[in-house]
Amino acid sequence: MIVYTLRRSSVCIVLSIVLNIVLSVALLAQTTSTRVSSGPARGVDDPTLNTRVESILRRMTVEEKIGQLVQYSAGQPTGPGTGRTDYDDMIARGQIGSLFNVVDPHEINRYQKIAMEKSRLHIPILFGLDVIHGFKTEFPIPLGLASTWDPSIIEKASHVAAMEASADGIRWTFSPMVDIARDARWGRMAEGAGEDPFLGSAMAAAYVRGYQGTRLDAPDSIAACVKHYVGYGAAEAGRDYNTTEISEHTLRQFYLPPFHAAVEAGTASLMSAFNSLNGVPSTANPFTLRQILRREWGFHGLVVSDWNAVGELIPHGIAADGATAARKAFLAGVDMDMVSSLYHDHLQQIVGSGQATPAELDEAVRHVLRVKLALGLFDHPFVDEDAAPKALYHPDSIALAQTAAERSFVLLKNSSGPGGPLLPLATAPLNIAVIGPLGDDSSYPEGAPQGAGPRVSLPAALAQRVGEGHVSRFKGVGILDGTDEGIASAVAGAQKADIVVLTLGESPDMSGEAASRAHLGLPGRQQELLEAIVHTGKPVVLILFSGRPLTVPWAFEHVPAVLAAWLPGIAGGPALSRTLFGEVNPSGKLVVSWPRSVGQEPLYYNALNTGRPAGDVDLTRPPTDIVSRYVSRYIDEQNAPQFPFGYGGSYTTFTYGATIISTQHLSASALNKGIAAQANEAAMTVEADVTNTGSRAGEEVVQLYIQLRGTSVTEPVRMLKGFRTVAIPPGETKKVKFELKPEAFAIWNGRNEFAAEPAKLKVWISPDSARGSAAEAEIIP
Ligand code: BGC
Repeated sequence: MIVYTLRRSSVCIVLSIVLNIVLSVALLAQTTSTRVSSGPARGVDDPTLNTRVESILRRMTVEEKIGQLVQYSAGQPTGPGTGRTDYDDMIARGQIGSLFNVVDPHEINRYQKIAMEKSRLHIPILFGLDVIHGFKTEFPIPLGLASTWDPSIIEKASHVAAMEASADGIRWTFSPMVDIARDARWGRMAEGAGEDPFLGSAMAAAYVRGYQGTRLDAPDSIAACVKHYVGYGAAEAGRDYNTTEISEHTLRQFYLPPFHAAVEAGTASLMSAFNSLNGVPSTANPFTLRQILRREWGFHGLVVSDWNAVGELIPHGIAADGATAARKAFLAGVDMDMVSSLYHDHLQQIVGSGQATPAELDEAVRHVLRVKLALGLFDHPFVDEDAAPKALYHPDSIALAQTAAERSFVLLKNSSGPGGPLLPLATAPLNIAVIGPLGDDSSYPEGAPQGAGPRVSLPAALAQRVGEGHVSRFKGVGILDGTDEGIASAVAGAQKADIVVLTLGESPDMSGEAASRAHLGLPGRQQELLEAIVHTGKPVVLILFSGRPLTVPWAFEHVPAVLAAWLPGIAGGPALSRTLFGEVNPSGKLVVSWPRSVGQEPLYYNALNTGRPAGDVDLTRPPTDIVSRYVSRYIDEQNAPQFPFGYGGSYTTFTYGATIISTQHLSASALNKGIAAQANEAAMTVEADVTNTGSRAGEEVVQLYIQLRGTSVTEPVRMLKGFRTVAIPPGETKKVKFELKPEAFAIWNGRNEFAAEPAKLKVWISPDSARGSAAEAEIIP
């Protein structure tokens, strides 16, 4: 079904809205066990803001109203709008509502003073910035943070970011990015929570809670901006900014839930994306911006365009000129124009000529004023210029960044040789050669803090542990280049060591925006370095630094221990050192399917059932996991990913008992009644025993998946519906129990209604998306 020709009876629309809201509440409710705080923040929805909003609005001229909808980047002068030198005059005339990329508190106050003292209505400027994974105290990239599977870590990390940014005068972050990412070629996979809508929803809500706290007007709260609405991560061929074609059904099932969860958690703002969605750019898309966001979800916050996305409607080919671009974006529901200057240039004429109504203008301005009022900016517009240094790099914040890093690492391989698994390393004195271009300054991805802070590199952290004289350092090659001599000296260094820690992967600027890759292997000459070092016969631990999974099948075959470290942030060095030596037992799990080869992309576990499942033809190709058995296959590559979604190893071992369900029969009509009544009771409880069968204490991210067959539309081979981290001492068993509310069994049907249907049901409690033994049940009419 094409999204713009949606026709439904009003009853269906109401039902869909109710069910949709219920779904999000359920998604949030099911993760409450890991929440730090609960309930939407006192924010843009607060009705007590109305009187002040209306009284300001009544006094504004049309020009002043339009000014509130205009935003420029005043920091780094790149792109349209930023070349202006007359911001001071414009602010004094009430022509600017928001500035971003200004990070000097003194400069922020200087601009704010003009707004508060010289502009007629004294409306404060809203200062924004991309605070993506920390302001100055840098946390692991969002893909790493999500690999903790711990929303409470994300909430705490976002709170630290909010504390630091607000102390600097920044009250608005363009984060979280909640785009579902199924294609590792797309560099912005690094900025999100991976491929799954359920996990992504939990993480989206956690970011919002962390940034916004329980009150937006608390001095250390900042407004979140959930982005990029919507479908941006589905860029064809993984090329950033590329076209997306996503049916309404798929949009609702996979791409919208994290945005909806963020709206339910009270996000103050949302950013419209660059991509063309089914032929209509997201920044000129009334179906997603007005129908879904405003009407169905009841969003009252601010919609800002992405950088010059209004201007880009011209190259998109749907606007011949700036005036048309401004009109289309504005009428579609974009309140604020980021940097294109087209609202500033054309909105007055658009409203004056009746192409947009004064009421529409007022509505957009209300959204901006609500955010500013909710933040308390009118009452406290200035920042204490001496506050920032005290707020930055607090030891507790660094400690949290270290914990987050430790929990983000995913142990991909730790094979048992005659002497047992290579990791953790023995405490006996060792000579360690750290070889590879990464591991020193491995963590400055795009959009990351510029501050240095108290960093300890991986070699330095290892030296602190085993002694300076026991750690040698050889880069071997650069990230993208290298020489034979460099490789030879690294090989000589390896030969003198007891163990090699190889640090390979991508530079931080190889992921993030405009950093799509067609090849997902090790860049430059790193593969040569890898093979040369492995051929020395020394034990090798490979640490992969990257903003995405890398296709390194040779390494997975020949290197005994491989750890995905992502881009671990300010405390990455000590976190890695503690992990290598076993003070930390890795517990991170993949939030994206790890490909064997780039030709498998896009690759995701929750693929739909197909008519010719490969399992019917060939069950012998290893590994014959559950997901890969259900999808059609390549003639020259396995279906299975290198590592499935949800996978991650540990220094101990866990075994799972049978999945036990509380009932074998559910009724679709009872489920739908429960959904409509927003019933809080579980429709089914599911439990399994998980035993730590190794000799170390460990934490395990236990996952719950379901599958529905016999439904009116094709459903995924598996869908995540729950997850929980349990700490289990060696030799002990814990019963892990989940409650599935009625919504867990509902699907988006062919009429794009969210409802339960008769179906055969399988339920797994399992360590990842590819294993486990299922319990079976039935949903009867
Ligand atoms: C990115 C956004 C970012 C904005 C402002 C754009 O290029 O797509 O994610 O928030 O710039 O820096």
